[in-house]
Amino acid sequence: MNKPAEIRENVSLRTLNSLAIDASARWYADVNSDDQLAALLAFADREGLETLILGGGSNLVFAGDFDGLVLHMALTGRRWEQVEGDSAVLALGAGENWHDAVLYAAAAGYRGIENLALIPGTAGAAPVQNIGAYGVELRDSLVSVTVLDRDTGDWQVLANEDCDFAYRDSLFKHQPGRYVIVELRLRLSRSQPLALGYADLRDYFEAQKTDELTPLDVAQAVMAVRRRKLPDPQQMPNAGSFFKNPVVSLAQWEALKADNPDMPGYPGRETAKLAAAWLIDQCGWKGFRDERVGVHNRQALVLINHSGGSGADVLALADRIQRDVDARFGVQLEREPGVIPARKASGA
Ligand code: EPU
Repeated sequence: MNKPAEIRENVSLRTLNSLAIDASARWYADVNSDDQLAALLAFADREGLETLILGGGSNLVFAGDFDGLVLHMALTGRRWEQVEGDSAVLALGAGENWHDAVLYAAAAGYRGIENLALIPGTAGAAPVQNIGAYGVELRDSLVSVTVLDRDTGDWQVLANEDCDFAYRDSLFKHQPGRYVIVELRLRLSRSQPLALGYADLRDYFEAQKTDELTPLDVAQAVMAVRRRKLPDPQQMPNAGSFFKNPVVSLAQWEALKADNPDMPGYPGRETAKLAAAWLIDQCGWKGFRDERVGVHNRQALVLINHSGGSGADVLALADRIQRDVDARFGVQLEREPGVIPARKASGA
């Protein structure tokens, strides 16, 4: 095949996924511009190669080697747009590091994403799972995303409402592979209220007067809280929460609560959200480990690759946890990270 010069063959993905799974890509390229992206995708289509768009690799599990073309999004750039009064729009290239962008906005005095500090990964991956933490989600500030629609070949700007955002969910999860996100725009403001309602943040600031806090103070509080509870992927490879917090009917919530009075949960008008970490913890999994993989000892929602575990090892552990939680509570946990299936080489 007459392949573009930037494509490399048989590249290890171990340092490109936060679970440090030692899968490899048959073909691999870094993407630094929109034109390069379009050309590489056109090449993949011509050659019939599967493609995988990779950001920070912090929310996926490689079940095996990938026999197609991995495109690592390295498109960078930060730009302030529409600065008017207290409000401004910050545009971020998909390859920008998310946490660095949070600190950049907070240091400039802009509010809106400070609660999302220290979430690993790239800006371009943030809309896919609608990242959220400490009472704030990306959808609260996202204006639009620029995408390449692979079905039509068109560049499009999708507004917030087009993205079907829900808890850890979006259009990009419903139609995997269709849209390649190259840029996003966030509306931030210097005067909107800080979101300090989450118990961990209230405890952190305790008696401190919160009306004098800056977004940078809040980002730093979030960083301290996260560092206490969540493992650093550089030291303990992980993909953050491995399961979503399950949503059940109010009837099921009431029945569960009657049997388990200590169970945390967040009942709404029609459904209740449960704490997956608590359910897993109750089944005795917190701190479990075998030779390769385990469950974090401070947050039972986080699976760890301790020592050379494969994607299959991680998925087998997740499966055992799901079966136990189902058997004990009758609740089905849904996996949060995407699973990239092993692809068999086709023919030649
Ligand atoms: N809990 C346990 N055992 C544990 C951990 C927590 O019983 O091992 C209990 C806690 O006591 C609390 C409840 O479970 O009552 C909820 O725990 P926590 O407040 O730590 O939050 P979470 O629901 O487990 C979610 C997000 C995190 C996010 C935090 C803070 C999901 C799937 N996870 O965790 O997101 O940082 O809230 O907002 O929604 C991620 O998605 O990767 C992630 C880390």
